[in-house]
Amino acid sequence: MPRTSSHGHHTSAPTGQQRATAILVTGAGGEMGHGLLEALDARRKRHAECSCGKDHGPAPVIVAMDIRELAPEIASHCDHAFVGDICDHALLERLLAMFEIAEIYHLAALLSTRGEFAPETAHQVNVGGTLNLLHLAAEQARSHGRTVRFFFPSSIAVYGLPDLATKANAGRVNEGEWCEPQSMYGCNKLAGEHLGRYYDRHYRSLAKDRIGHPVDFRSIRFPGIISSDTIPSGGTSDYGPEMIHAAAAGRPYACFVRGDSRIPFMTMPEAIEATLSLMKAPKTSLTRAVYNISSFSPSADDFAELVRRAFPSAAISFEPDAGRQSIVDSWPTDCDDAAARADWGWRPVHTVQSAFSEYLLPRIAARYAPSSHARA
Ligand code: SER
Repeated sequence: MPRTSSHGHHTSAPTGQQRATAILVTGAGGEMGHGLLEALDARRKRHAECSCGKDHGPAPVIVAMDIRELAPEIASHCDHAFVGDICDHALLERLLAMFEIAEIYHLAALLSTRGEFAPETAHQVNVGGTLNLLHLAAEQARSHGRTVRFFFPSSIAVYGLPDLATKANAGRVNEGEWCEPQSMYGCNKLAGEHLGRYYDRHYRSLAKDRIGHPVDFRSIRFPGIISSDTIPSGGTSDYGPEMIHAAAAGRPYACFVRGDSRIPFMTMPEAIEATLSLMKAPKTSLTRAVYNISSFSPSADDFAELVRRAFPSAAISFEPDAGRQSIVDSWPTDCDDAAARADWGWRPVHTVQSAFSEYLLPRIAARYAPSSHARA
């Protein structure tokens, strides 16, 4: 369990001690946080047990932050867990005082469907919160004199294709094309990308006491992500994972987009692996701040077909919701990931078939097995 588990307003700051070097993960209780904390914890255990003879130095502590208390299985992967809001300046100031933060994985966000019900709140959390974390990173760099590496998960939601004919003609879009998002979430992610680039390259460009390059900002535009362990909430790509989890749990599922809807997806392990690869790439090999990555692009019908094959009694119907359909229709069918391949060696692991047969089905079947105590 974490050494510090705090509700933000009272913390056991190690006063008078040297600040421990830390990795900060916001939104740690969310879908990506779940996988990322596990991977970061495993990585530092590997370093600790490494017998190569090189001095890897002390492993950084892992500091998690989320608006809700972390589930015990997630909390077990971090040293300090804070329950709090990324818009809470006082909490961020306290983190600055307590830790020497070397890396930030800023995962906290309100997703695209939820954001459409409360766009101004989405903006405050998604853009205001990102600004706060970038500022924290810059202040950290000022206080310890080293650049802070910053990971920002962006999204295919930054793209906005105006209609289906344009989407069909556009094919694989590259990072510079069609960045006219339809959803507030997409606007927020695009703003986050621009802010990150600004903090990386131009922060306080006219100030006399500016420090060059306080933040090393790196971002991936993720497609819809499917995890065998968690069910997303509040996203517009959720029909993919929801369909699979519902079938495995023996529940009927009404898909909220048409069967011919097609956007890119990937598995959670691919997304986590990509995050860690980009974060460890030498800065000199990176030609951009923001990268597309691509794995597979099934239609909703393809998904349903694979799910029915695995769960013959699955009851899947299609009941498109006009609003969510329109958001999915504005996202590209595929993304051009040539830059990620060339600069940091990105390669997808799965086709849609192998994602089902090697990752999703075995793990989901175990999760929903009658003897399993897993959450549904
Ligand atoms: N999967 C996210 C969503 O649907 C997009 O990044 O909101």
